[in-house]
Amino acid sequence: MPRPDITETQRRVAAHLVGRERELELTLAAVASGRDIVLEGPPGTSKTTMLKAITEEWGIPLMFVEGNADLTPAKLVGHHNPARVLREDYSADNFVAGPLVEAMQEGGFLYIEEFNRAPEDTLNTLLTAMADRSIAIPRVGTVVAKPTFRVIASMNPYDNVGTTRLSTSVHDRLNRLAIGYQDAAAEEGIVTLRTRASGALGERLVRDAVAVTRATRVHPDIRQGSSVRGAIDLVLVAEQLAALRGLEDAGSEPYAPLVYDAMVVALSGRIHLDEAAETTPEQVLREIWEDRFILQPAVAAPG
Ligand SMILES: Nc1ncnc2c1ncn2[C@@H]1O[C@H](COP(=O)(O)OP(=O)(O)OP(=O)(O)O)[C@@H](O)[C@H]1O
Ligand SMILES: [Mg+2]
Repeated sequence: MPRPDITETQRRVAAHLVGRERELELTLAAVASGRDIVLEGPPGTSKTTMLKAITEEWGIPLMFVEGNADLTPAKLVGHHNPARVLREDYSADNFVAGPLVEAMQEGGFLYIEEFNRAPEDTLNTLLTAMADRSIAIPRVGTVVAKPTFRVIASMNPYDNVGTTRLSTSVHDRLNRLAIGYQDAAAEEGIVTLRTRASGALGERLVRDAVAVTRATRVHPDIRQGSSVRGAIDLVLVAEQLAALRGLEDAGSEPYAPLVYDAMVVALSGRIHLDEAAETTPEQVLREIWEDRFILQPAVAAPG
């Protein structure tokens, strides 16, 4: 591939990202070395954002596939158009390429989200394509991957339903990078960037939204808390609520109840309670809200 200087790529990709210097450096090193990698991290931790920025910079496609029980090898590789097969018999011509073959032919990144949910025979097909950088398709021939073809897998470490336990042979064929949640400052930067919140009210909303969203990740009754997407939506919803209610000042009394209402909308569907917890998402959010706005108002106060 026309490979631009890697430090130049790093610099330009970094301009699209808030933080994530280390994750970008390591991911870039892995893909630039010609290797495939699994990114293991909870939702909303910049995996897609980073890959989009890298592939855009390289000018190659990024193809998404969701790993689930229905992802058969045929779906990944492709199939012969049945109507045309009846008319013309099998030929390379009536083969409809699946995302794996497309990514190989176009030299793109095949991004398989929830990799560990894919069935084992699908994983095996993928491993063979990764090892050989080519794939033999019956009645079509051998497809050889362009040099920029990569397989990037992602997994959510909290995911435990419907997942395959990946065998050691799968792990042995992949590089791996564990990605955690961003720190609070980076999340505030991301939320500000994505919501364009500004002014005293906007800045206060960003801080509160990030704080309560982060609190959902450590609450004892929650198995998996909300990603930064919840904080983004919380700010957007709260801004509209503020307009509806004519609220302009974060220091006024209706501010805290407004944040709670926005939390219910933006976060209640994004938190996953522990099976054993005898509570509701709204109740848990109420506790988090009280903790920030009633028990520790000093933390929430501006300045
Ligand atoms: N480092 C970052 N810089 C700018 N925006 C970011 C960053 N990280 C995340 N975002 C924003 O947060 C949202 C979620 O990020 P992203 O889609 O990259 O997460 P992900 O790790 O791919 O999550 P999932 O596992 O759910 O697919 C997006 O709207 C994205 O714009
Ligand atoms: Mg993603």
